[in-house]
Amino acid sequence: MPQPSKRLEKIPPYLFAEMARIKREAIAKGADVIDLGIGDPDLPTPVPVREALKKSVDDPATHRYDETARGWTSFLEAAARFYKGAFQVDLDPSTELTQVIGSKEGLAHLAWAYLDPGDLCIVPNPAYTVYKVNALMAGADVLEVPLRESNGFLPDLTEIPTSDAKRAKLIYVCYPNNPTGATASPAFYHDLVRFCREHDVLAVNDMAYGTVCYDGYKNPTILQVSGGKDVAIEFHSLSKMYNMTGWRLGFACGNPEAVNTLQRLKSNIDSKAFPAIAEAGAHALDHVNNDDTIALYQKRRDNLVDGLRSIGWNVMKPQAAFYIWARVPVPGMTSAEFAGALLEKAHVLVIPGNGYGSEGEGYVRMSLTLVGDKNGERFAEAVKRIAQSGLIPQGAAV
Ligand SMILES: Cc1ncc(COP(=O)(O)O)c(C=O)c1O
Repeated sequence: MPQPSKRLEKIPPYLFAEMARIKREAIAKGADVIDLGIGDPDLPTPVPVREALKKSVDDPATHRYDETARGWTSFLEAAARFYKGAFQVDLDPSTELTQVIGSKEGLAHLAWAYLDPGDLCIVPNPAYTVYKVNALMAGADVLEVPLRESNGFLPDLTEIPTSDAKRAKLIYVCYPNNPTGATASPAFYHDLVRFCREHDVLAVNDMAYGTVCYDGYKNPTILQVSGGKDVAIEFHSLSKMYNMTGWRLGFACGNPEAVNTLQRLKSNIDSKAFPAIAEAGAHALDHVNNDDTIALYQKRRDNLVDGLRSIGWNVMKPQAAFYIWARVPVPGMTSAEFAGALLEKAHVLVIPGNGYGSEGEGYVRMSLTLVGDKNGERFAEAVKRIAQSGLIPQGAAV
């Protein structure tokens, strides 16, 4: 067999492999593992969306290639209506929107559409790994900007050396944030627009968790900010919005030139989603809300955070996304050591923060999308087992 491309060697080793191994061993020994690792909605897609798919799948017009330039027309029009309703910004479906096969695909291909060897791409650390990996595979250099707790897990744009800012073509950000659960303010987006204008950089705003917000909070978007459309492309996904991760549907919107550049690459790689899925997605965007699921996450968040605090682990309470990003409570233990110990002693799986980048060291991530939890009993069990593990130091606020 020929050797795979050198490009594939740029993919960093899979940091979760060790966790997966310990989990397999524990399950093989009969342990009942509570998996707080995976960030994938455990509830089914809402019934009206499934009904819409059943209908659209019977329409032969959906059985053929989607030959449009940017995506299934009714889907793009629904996306524009959704965006206007949710964020009060007008989008032109014929120039400012394109359909993606889940936001992961779009975020990855955007790097390929813009980056050549020698270019620079700015990514957050910690972050969803797709930005960095694809920038590296495209041959670009990567500058990682730390997301520090002291700065609300926002990148400090003033820390980016001018020479790097000038060389950069893209800067990726993600709010509501995975893994930290942080949110962004309009002021941050103003600063980002200014930075991008000054240095001719395209801002890539990943809003995969854009509608997963609690306590009435709404995360702003960069397109709401004056000048946002001049410098930004934004990615939205139906995955977390409507428990549709398996359906693979989302959209990119914003600067027409950026949207067009992404679409030019994509039209030579994929032939878009199954149109019946796009049609059902349009129905979801126009007619369905997922408030029940969000209310459930909020309840789980409150129970888990309160429960962990009651046993001496003083974790942060996020306003959005479905992750608890918690400091490792045992002095001197790394994220991986703590996660490994928790899995061995409590059969509770959490993700070591360094899996998202070096700045994630010292943290672990817990997901609120716990398969098998009905009324909070699995989260309560997780808290009980963590307490019994003896790992949480008593008496000291963490
Ligand atoms: C921050 C972030 N962005 C994008 C995605 C990709 O989601 P999808 O491709 O399902 O839209 C994920 C998935 O977990 C994510 O966490």
